[in-house]
Amino acid sequence: MAEMAACHFAVFMTHLPTEFPDFGLTPEQRRQAVRSHYWEWPGMDGERGEIWCYTDRFSYRAGETVALHVSSTAPIFGITIIRDGGSETKVYEKAGIAARWQDTPDQCSVEGCGWEASFEFRIGDDWPSGAYRVTLEAGGGDGQPIRCHHLFIVSPQPGQKPGRVLQVAATGTWLAYNSWGGSNHYEGITGANRDQYARTVSTQRPWCRGFVVLPKGAPRVPLEVAVPPKTVPRYPHMEWAFATGHSKKYASSGWASYDSHFFRFAERSGYAVDLASQHELHFVPEILDGYDCVVFVGHDEYWTWEMRDAVDAYVTRGGHAARFAGNFMWQTRLEDGGRRQVCYKYRARAEDPAYRGGDVTRATNSWEAPEIGRPGSSTFGLNATRGVYAGWGGCAPRGVRGFPVYRPEHWAFAGTGIYYGDLLGADSHVYGYEVDGLDFEIRGGLPYPTATSGAPDGLQVLAVGMAAQVEESADIPLKDQFLGDEDGRFTAETLFGEASDANLDKVKRGNGMIVNFARGKGEVFHAGSCEWVAGLLRQDAMVERVTKNVLDRYLGKT
Ligand SMILES: [Fe+2]
Repeated sequence: MAEMAACHFAVFMTHLPTEFPDFGLTPEQRRQAVRSHYWEWPGMDGERGEIWCYTDRFSYRAGETVALHVSSTAPIFGITIIRDGGSETKVYEKAGIAARWQDTPDQCSVEGCGWEASFEFRIGDDWPSGAYRVTLEAGGGDGQPIRCHHLFIVSPQPGQKPGRVLQVAATGTWLAYNSWGGSNHYEGITGANRDQYARTVSTQRPWCRGFVVLPKGAPRVPLEVAVPPKTVPRYPHMEWAFATGHSKKYASSGWASYDSHFFRFAERSGYAVDLASQHELHFVPEILDGYDCVVFVGHDEYWTWEMRDAVDAYVTRGGHAARFAGNFMWQTRLEDGGRRQVCYKYRARAEDPAYRGGDVTRATNSWEAPEIGRPGSSTFGLNATRGVYAGWGGCAPRGVRGFPVYRPEHWAFAGTGIYYGDLLGADSHVYGYEVDGLDFEIRGGLPYPTATSGAPDGLQVLAVGMAAQVEESADIPLKDQFLGDEDGRFTAETLFGEASDANLDKVKRGNGMIVNFARGKGEVFHAGSCEWVAGLLRQDAMVERVTKNVLDRYLGKT
């Protein structure tokens, strides 16, 4: 089956369609799909009814008790729990559980739903670390079943873990994009006019639709279209979300779009993998102890100071961090024991109390804001504002689909057959939709970080592709641009103090890199792209080989 799938995929990729997929929307609906704010909320399905749930925490250890908070229009429901890894294993099932509809506060995205716990169950002592998918099913008003999906993590027990990989799920980013209840760190119903993104988001609410499970073939953000000249950009993932009732942000974050593809690949390939949440990195940094290799994947944008401390200390002591992820952008703070995540983002300098008598190094701004003094590159080698968008909208929609390789002799590329100037992962489109980079220069045909780039000593640039921080085209009217220059202006102001044209010019051209460096007794490998996991999902042999080369070396197998 695997070989069949890979074969079909290769055929597909050499014949990219020249038209955008059509999900049956009118032009006005297509506009709404991209421009309007829509979200999941209690009551949204009307007469059909709904069932929703969340757990009191993101992760548990074996033997601990999970409190499930349920709100349902149906009086009873059934629950199924499946471990979602290299194979799917049902671990728990129960029918006939009582439920009721519970009131939800208007600002639940910020404050939490506050539902009473409806049902408790114990994590079995024999449930291996990993991701556990919860499905609740009940009877709908029209006689058809209603369902919801949730996910929790079983994290590993403490101790030495020779030969095991620890994957850290990007829960900070899941939380930032979760649209359930109306507000996330992007769009929202907060503020006097109910039109502001939320500076604080709560863990105490369901995941939006598409974060836990997705049908095969749900569009990813990067375009699988050979875009004809002067095409006004379209956004198939948002059109599909609008047409099918999924979250507008399903393709931006979540287990289903990102983290799952690494976890399943690693288990299928014979690696012993444990899973933890990023929140544990914050509260229980010693969770990294005992592992030779810790992995971060996907769209991994929101981190706390403490999470970085955990990784920095682990690497310095001799640990190996492999990041196959992009967009290391924002500092967050956690409150209420981790139940609330704070990120003022674009409004940080104006509104974050860290700027008014607080500790400004903890400001919830870009890591590269000079007052914070801790660019992302000092942990993972790359910076978010030197990279950003590739392969969608008006940001390199016809750009490279894979990483252009400059140092094919590096150990990470052993056995791939790749040459200087080749693209790594172009067939599976691993390059995009947000990438991390560094200011660099080319000497003798090889890339080197510039002296002021913030690169750690000894960092080697293995691959570099182009990226853009603004949409610019003489042929596409401003009104048809989605990203425009808003992010670029913000970066210009954050880095250089003013959002002027001159400063915009300094930041608008980005790049995405693969880099490798040693720090202390340890080492970091970083393929700075959100879409690396697309290569694992689509079984791209070259991407799989590089991933295995990194894991094998860091586990001491080679
Ligand atoms: Fe992002």
